[in-house]
Amino acid sequence: MNVREVIAKKRDRGEHSEAELQFLVEGYVRGDVADYQMSAWLMAVFLHGMSAAETATLTRLMVESGDVLAFPELPGKKVDKHSTGGVGDLVSLPLAPLVAAAGVFVPMISGRGLGHTGGTLDKLESIKGLRTGLEPDEFRSVLTEVGFAMGGQTAQLAPADKKMYALRDVTGTVESIPLIVSSILSKKVAEGIDGLVLDVKCGRGAFMKNEEDALALAQELTRVGNLMGKNVRAFITNMDTPLGNAIGNALEVEVAIACLKGNGPTDTMELVSTLGQAMICLADKAATWEESEALFQKALQSGEGWNAFVSMVKLQGGDVSMVENPNTLPGAPVHKDVLAANAGFVTDIDPFGVGEAVVALGGGRQKAEDSIHPGVGVRLHRKVGESCEAGESLATVLAKDEETAKQASARVEGAIKTGSEAPPEEKLVRYLVTADGYEPWLGAKTWDSQST
Ligand code: URA
Repeated sequence: MNVREVIAKKRDRGEHSEAELQFLVEGYVRGDVADYQMSAWLMAVFLHGMSAAETATLTRLMVESGDVLAFPELPGKKVDKHSTGGVGDLVSLPLAPLVAAAGVFVPMISGRGLGHTGGTLDKLESIKGLRTGLEPDEFRSVLTEVGFAMGGQTAQLAPADKKMYALRDVTGTVESIPLIVSSILSKKVAEGIDGLVLDVKCGRGAFMKNEEDALALAQELTRVGNLMGKNVRAFITNMDTPLGNAIGNALEVEVAIACLKGNGPTDTMELVSTLGQAMICLADKAATWEESEALFQKALQSGEGWNAFVSMVKLQGGDVSMVENPNTLPGAPVHKDVLAANAGFVTDIDPFGVGEAVVALGGGRQKAEDSIHPGVGVRLHRKVGESCEAGESLATVLAKDEETAKQASARVEGAIKTGSEAPPEEKLVRYLVTADGYEPWLGAKTWDSQST
């Protein structure tokens, strides 16, 4: 076999055999296939796509390019969650401990911020000392002891994805459904999970800007996930406005703590409970949505979810006193308010604008090698639909100096719109997607009818 022929086959819209994909992926990881050859093939896939069977084979080969974790010694099904990325989306932080407290093992491998969206690892690392670069032995021991562990992709986990993703990032080939699906699923399958709940964000603050694209991605993720022998469900959720009431690394840890203590923002808690209950069901801990709700609420109200979070922080080397006293989390010296020009209602908050403002403050990266300032960010005092008085603070920008505060507050001001009438309420959780299709999300009715 030669690489030119494999590239030409996809260029001419052919369907690859397993042997061809194996030749390409293994050759690329070994260094026998050059970056320029892989780039040409990635672009051919970007333009002509792949069948679900090809994508499943590619995903399996990417998984097999590195170590595959397995936890046969831990009872029950292991389940994780993946979000395609949003603004203010701190859901993983309260979700994993709550689901673990409900009796499900959650081996969670997360990522860093990407573009204007935040990343779980960056948020966690705003807790002093907390290590996310766990080697497999330590990951296993935290998972065993607490019921969940939160780490990053190590060099041994799906290395083909690591190398291919870096190349896609600089060759204009990120936004391809089969490439996104194989990238996401290869990392998740390598974690040793049985089930996966996906939060596919849809809207201006998301990768997928409209429902059609979000549904197409979710459908392919569930189909390919099933072909790989995993039980996968996807939710399409709204990212046309930031989630919760704070954007920034330490700020979001503070909100996560509030969620675990039962005081989280309503929209964040709706998402945490929906995704959490789905995980509990996929682990076979509950037969119905109502049963999973009871388990989830018990984990929340008993404080067991909070205790699990504190135990993880301790075992992963974090300063527990910081999460016990969130006012000691990293802050920022300059605070600047964004004021309402008129009385009325908040009619819109553009998540992209707010996310970009946080990146500009130093809360995200402009270049891969940039370091993050954990304490900067934006607090939202009013959400879309809420009323406001003229001159009241709609948001506060937390910055490291006056100059960045000024620039970011202008950006946040541009992102928040007010008007004389409240806008119609938008649904947060829109659809449930399975390998067989999708349905509008109506809670128990939708879940129970899909699962029987
Ligand atoms: N996240 C991933 O891990 N991979 C992609 O391709 C896109 C988002």
